[in-house]
Amino acid sequence: MKFFVDTADTAEIASLAETGLLDGVTTNPSLIHKSGRQFLEVIAEIAGLVKGPVSAEVVAVGAKEMLREAEVLRKLGDNICIKLPLTMEGLTVCRKLADEGVMVNVTLCFSAAQALLAAKAGAAFISPFVGRLDDIGQDGMLLIEDIRTIYDNYAFDTEILVASVRHPVHVLQAAKLGADVATMPPGVIRALANHPLTNSGLAAFLDDWGKTGQSIV
Ligand code: E4P
Repeated sequence: MKFFVDTADTAEIASLAETGLLDGVTTNPSLIHKSGRQFLEVIAEIAGLVKGPVSAEVVAVGAKEMLREAEVLRKLGDNICIKLPLTMEGLTVCRKLADEGVMVNVTLCFSAAQALLAAKAGAAFISPFVGRLDDIGQDGMLLIEDIRTIYDNYAFDTEILVASVRHPVHVLQAAKLGADVATMPPGVIRALANHPLTNSGLAAFLDDWGKTGQSIV
C-alpha cells in the first residue's frame, strides 16, 4: 500500500520524505488556502521534495478552462498529477489528458458508480472521500469495498486512493480491503507508528541499558 500525505505544508512533507515512507502528496484548494502561500509556487516546491505523484487540483469548472489550467500545472514538475473533480466536465478532461499520457487523480468521489466512470475515463487514481461519508452517517469503507470489487471485475488499472482519512483505523481498514493508496494528514501517518507498549517497552529497555554502564559506540 502506498502512503501519500494530504497537505500543502512543505516542512511536514520534507520531514516525512526523510523517513522513506512517503510515496506521494495530495493537495486541494482548501489546503493551499491553509498554507497561506501561492499555489503554483508551493506545488513546484512540493514536486521537488518527493519523487512520487503530486496531485495539483484545477479550480475551473468548464472542460476548456480545466485543460488550460492543467497545461500550467503540468509544467511544475514531471511528477505532477492533475486532480480533476468528478463531474462530466472533469471526466471529459480526464479522458483527454489520459490519452496524452498525463497522470490524473479524479477527486470528490462519493459513489461506486462515479468510480466506475473515472476508471473508464482512464484516471490513474480515484479518490473516494471516506471521512466525509462517515461524517454524514454513511460507511465510507463500504465504498472502498465496492470500488475494489468493480475494479477487480474488469481489471481496471485505476488505483484506489483512499482520501479524507481521519485516523489510523481508516488506514488499516483500507489496507485490509486492498486499497492501493491512502492519503493522510501528517498526524495520521505519525500516529500509525505509535503504540503505548512500544513507548513503555523502550523506556524500560533504555533504563536497564543505562544500568549496565556500557555504550555501543
Ligand atoms: C484528498 O485528496 C483530499 O485532499 C482530502 O483527503 C480531503 O480530506 P478532508 O475531507 O479531510 O478535507
